[in-house]
Amino acid sequence: MLQIGDQFDHFQILGHIAQGGMSDVYKAYDLLSSKEVVLKIPDKMSIGDPAQFERFQRELEVMETLRHPSIQLGLGSGRYNSTPYLVTELVIGKSMRDFVQSAAPVPPDQAVQLIRKIADGIAHCHDHGIIHRDLKPENILITDEGQPIILDFGLALTKKSYRVTYANLSSTAGTPDYMAPEQIEGQRGDQRTDLYAVGIMFFELLTGRVPFSGDNTMVVMSQHLHAVIPRLDREQPNITPQLAAVVMRCLERDPKDRYSDLHAFIHDLDNLNDVDISILEKSRTPKALSLWERFPLLKPVGIAVFILLALIILAVILQSVRPK
Ligand SMILES: Nc1ncnc2c1ncn2[C@@H]1O[C@H](COP(=O)(O)OP(=O)(O)O)[C@@H](O)[C@H]1O
Ligand SMILES: [Mg+2]
Repeated sequence: MLQIGDQFDHFQILGHIAQGGMSDVYKAYDLLSSKEVVLKIPDKMSIGDPAQFERFQRELEVMETLRHPSIQLGLGSGRYNSTPYLVTELVIGKSMRDFVQSAAPVPPDQAVQLIRKIADGIAHCHDHGIIHRDLKPENILITDEGQPIILDFGLALTKKSYRVTYANLSSTAGTPDYMAPEQIEGQRGDQRTDLYAVGIMFFELLTGRVPFSGDNTMVVMSQHLHAVIPRLDREQPNITPQLAAVVMRCLERDPKDRYSDLHAFIHDLDNLNDVDISILEKSRTPKALSLWERFPLLKPVGIAVFILLALIILAVILQSVRPK
């Protein structure tokens, strides 16, 4: 790991910002441009990986295709002493993970506003043929002005990289909390896969927890595939059925049942009063439990009381008909 004051190529290290999924991220001073930048270098685990250089180059290429206030700006990539690196703009703010931890559940209006800006950036990616595929609060920064910035296009799918399936990359993908069912099944995913991750983040902002959780990766994955999506309007009185319906539609198991693209999702966010809420009544809400299922002891106790009563009545009758 690099230390403060170290020189790496034409950069002077100013501090370690974070450890990502496969890299160490530093704040650095670029001696050529005299600007503070962010330097992304493979971590100990992936430093010898020959594919890493290409991955950074691809990540830079992706960022260069995109120009949007919600998307991180790429500045360059290179190799120094055979270590590949990526240079990006420095964003002053905090990660959305920290924001969720300290602020969620946030008021619905605020959640809608933030998700709207994130969705706008992702729609921009999709319009340029790029699917992010690793959207999660760790990969989004929020500036002090409240502007979200999407980072980490390390797993992004582009038209060029169309043959790279998610399965090839998933060993480094980290948390399954934001993974869509089709990703779990090893498919490469499309724009609706990103939409699903947005739905999970939306849910998390509104409630302070992810909809599907468990003790280990397998349990979480199985929940994404089989569990019932919780109805937010029943859980929290400040969430309208319309907003609950929008979140639920992002989280549909089958991509065909989700919004067809981010623009359709944004349209509903902008017209929440007109959202069709019939989705909330679909069979995926858990069936109501019968009285017996809710109180399993009721049945045996009831039968025992009945038999006891019958015996008492019988005894009383026998007593009264016995000849004196
Ligand atoms: N431009 C930046 N400004 C500030 N922090 C950043 C920046 N880029 C990355 N980070 C921080 O570094 C972490 C790892 O970066 P990321 O690009 O996600 O790497 P990885 O591909 O290894 O996950 C992020 O979660 C974020 O906290
Ligand atoms: Mg990351």
